[in-house]
Amino acid sequence: MERFLWILMWLLKQVSAEAPVCRMLQKDVFDCSGLSLRQVPDQLPFGLHRLDLSQNLLQNLTELDLSSGLTLQTLDLKQNQLSFLQPGLFQLIRHLEVLDLSRNVLSTFASLNTPLGLLPSLRTLDLSHNGLHSDMSDVFLSNAPVLSNLSMHGNSITKISRSMFNGTNALRSIDLHNNVIIEIEDGAFEELPKISDLDLSVNSISCITDFNLMQLRMLNLSRNSLSSFQTIDSEQPFHLETLDLRENRLLYFPVLPRRNQLAFLDLSRNLLRSLNCTGPREELESLRESGYLIPEFESTIEFPSSERQQALPSLLYLDLSFNQLKAIPESFFTTMAALKSLNISNNCLRSFRIEHLSSLKTLDLSFNSLQSLSVSEGALAALESLHLQGNGLRMLSSEFFLRLPSINSLHLEGNQLGICPPGESSAECIFLACIPTLKYLYMSQNGLMSVPEGAFKGSPLLILDLSLNPGISIAPGALFGLEASLTHLSLRGNEIQALSVDFSLFSKLKLLDLSENRLASVALWSSGSVLESLNLQSNRLETLAASTVLALQPSLQTLFLGSNPLSCCRNIQLLMLIQEKRIRVPDNASATCWISSDGQRLEVSMGASASVNNKQEYCNEGNGSVLWISLVVALVLGVALVTTVLMKLGHSRKHRFTRGIKA
Ligand SMILES: *[C@@H]1O[C@H](CO)[C@@H](O)[C@H](O)[C@H]1NC(C)=O
Ligand SMILES: *[C@@H]1O[C@H](CO)[C@@H](O)[C@H](O)[C@H]1NC(C)=O
Ligand SMILES: *[C@@H]1O[C@H](CO)[C@@H](O)[C@H](O)[C@H]1NC(C)=O
Ligand SMILES: *[C@@H]1O[C@H](CO)[C@@H](O)[C@H](O)[C@H]1NC(C)=O
Ligand SMILES: *[C@@H]1O[C@H](CO)[C@@H](O)[C@H](O)[C@H]1NC(C)=O
Ligand SMILES: *[C@@H]1O[C@H](CO)[C@@H](O)[C@H](O)[C@H]1NC(C)=O
Ligand SMILES: *[C@@H]1O[C@H](CO)[C@@H](O)[C@H](O)[C@H]1NC(C)=O
Repeated sequence: MERFLWILMWLLKQVSAEAPVCRMLQKDVFDCSGLSLRQVPDQLPFGLHRLDLSQNLLQNLTELDLSSGLTLQTLDLKQNQLSFLQPGLFQLIRHLEVLDLSRNVLSTFASLNTPLGLLPSLRTLDLSHNGLHSDMSDVFLSNAPVLSNLSMHGNSITKISRSMFNGTNALRSIDLHNNVIIEIEDGAFEELPKISDLDLSVNSISCITDFNLMQLRMLNLSRNSLSSFQTIDSEQPFHLETLDLRENRLLYFPVLPRRNQLAFLDLSRNLLRSLNCTGPREELESLRESGYLIPEFESTIEFPSSERQQALPSLLYLDLSFNQLKAIPESFFTTMAALKSLNISNNCLRSFRIEHLSSLKTLDLSFNSLQSLSVSEGALAALESLHLQGNGLRMLSSEFFLRLPSINSLHLEGNQLGICPPGESSAECIFLACIPTLKYLYMSQNGLMSVPEGAFKGSPLLILDLSLNPGISIAPGALFGLEASLTHLSLRGNEIQALSVDFSLFSKLKLLDLSENRLASVALWSSGSVLESLNLQSNRLETLAASTVLALQPSLQTLFLGSNPLSCCRNIQLLMLIQEKRIRVPDNASATCWISSDGQRLEVSMGASASVNNKQEYCNEGNGSVLWISLVVALVLGVALVTTVLMKLGHSRKHRFTRGIKA
């Protein structure tokens, strides 16, 4: 009897656990998502405004299904298996404003070619990922008079026809990204007086020859096959603010509206070789030879009869990175008085001269082949961040950076620049002292020979990276003047043998990287320190002096110690800190110390050796090594035992235990 009852209860529990339960979220929001429903629940709560049926198994939707949901304003049907919608269905839900039909199989319904009917109040419709082809959208869009926001991304649309948006004249935003559009019929968007956002990215459009959508604010054509973008020749004002042409095959600068308010223009990852709107025919010839020009597109490239002046007075952001620009004419920027961010990285520029860019805050000229760079007085008055890394730049006027009154961060990695001693100008070096706005300075990989005394005095650096300049000689007063500001310093990979700096004076220094040098000692702290992370990996350290450990101990959280010939017995204090887990040693796998036994050195993991009490005893002359050895043998055996047991428990019996007992 008891057993029977128990089974009954168990069954009840199973049944109730599996029965789908929709949840009332607010008084008018019903959430039935992810319940494997095959049908809409029979009785929907009265007066519902919002119904979430997403992630179920619905296939058909009829008037009957929604007869108790006539008050709905938002209906979410995404990710079902809908292949049939009863025509006229949504006409009944008179106040429906938002309908999400994404990720269904509505191409089946669309192929029946029966219009869905009037969508009287619908403002937002999502039809993305439904396998829809070009003409199929008509079925849904024939009669949606107030629809303003339409998503149809991730379908198989190849053509935007003239009639596609004929029933949806109120559209403001259309998202067609990730289709296979190759053709846009003339006038396809002409009947849309309110259109402002058009996303055509990730399609196969090969050219735009007569862009004329004056009301448009955002046009995304990134990741198409555009070889040309041309606006009609008109004196009308265009409202375009954002034009994304990234990742296309543009050979020339686009022909933009004469009167425009463009703020954002992305031309990165194209084939721009010149910033002229059209180039001479010979250049076209050479492109054809080099295979950049696909014959089918060639006929579509038009040559405007006269060079049109491109004024971009509102432009804030211009990205020209990853093109093939060899030169930029000085006059190019004359009309861009508002420009804040300019990216010309990864081109082939050999020289660059800046005359007027007085609003510019960020300039990226990295990864070109710059040999010369010049700025006229006041041309970059607002510049905060300058990226010059990866240019192999050897020469720069020594006062160059003194001409940048707002400069905050300088990326100079991968060049061949030297640092001048303050007051001694020379063609071979740059001044980095007395730049009162400079906070971030990156000079890794410059083949720096020396850092003179006071090199950065008067430049309140927070971060200074001087890494990977092997053989650099750092003068005793090199960091003079940075005591109150510096928080991060890297001297990694510099082959430094000795350093004479008192880091106790650096009252904000939190991170110090001294790894990959040849330091045999780091007596760098005379009293306390606020350092939180110290990297001493790959040096020649045998000991960390007790005074150093004492100075670091209060604040240090992370210490990299691997690949140093540390002696266990001479670093007892350090070992104890590690044992007590008061310092994290992230590279503990390679952090070892040695003990000597019969004239031989035995490597012990710093983590493992930390498990002994009262170490001094073991490090006395004579019996110390014996005890250490027994300790190590015991540890190794312990580890071997545990490993063996674990492997037996696991299912990897086939593997032979080969690496366990070696010591
Ligand atoms: C859905 O509707 C179609 C057409 O009315 C019908 O052929 C099909 O059997 C229905 N499927 C389901 C699961 O009700
Ligand atoms: C348009 O609808 C999409 C979802 O379908 C939404 O992410 C987007 O914010 C809406 N845009 C506007 C302008 O309402
Ligand atoms: C758009 O619809 C109107 C009537 O609603 C019709 O007269 C016109 O021919 C249609 N245009 C296109 C391009 O289909
Ligand atoms: C344009 O579309 C691409 C791809 O869909 C997207 O990554 C990018 O952010 C869009 N650009 C803008 C300006 O929104
Ligand atoms: C760009 O145009 C200028 C003048 O219009 C001309 O001197 C220059 O040669 C052109 N550059 C290229 C690469 O076509
Ligand atoms: C410039 O463009 C490159 C490539 O797109 C990018 O990696 C870099 O972050 C950009 N520079 C700035 C300062 O944003
Ligand atoms: C090494 O450090 C990790 C995490 O910091 C810790 O889990 C591990 O036990 C340590 N290994 C030794 C041998 O101390």
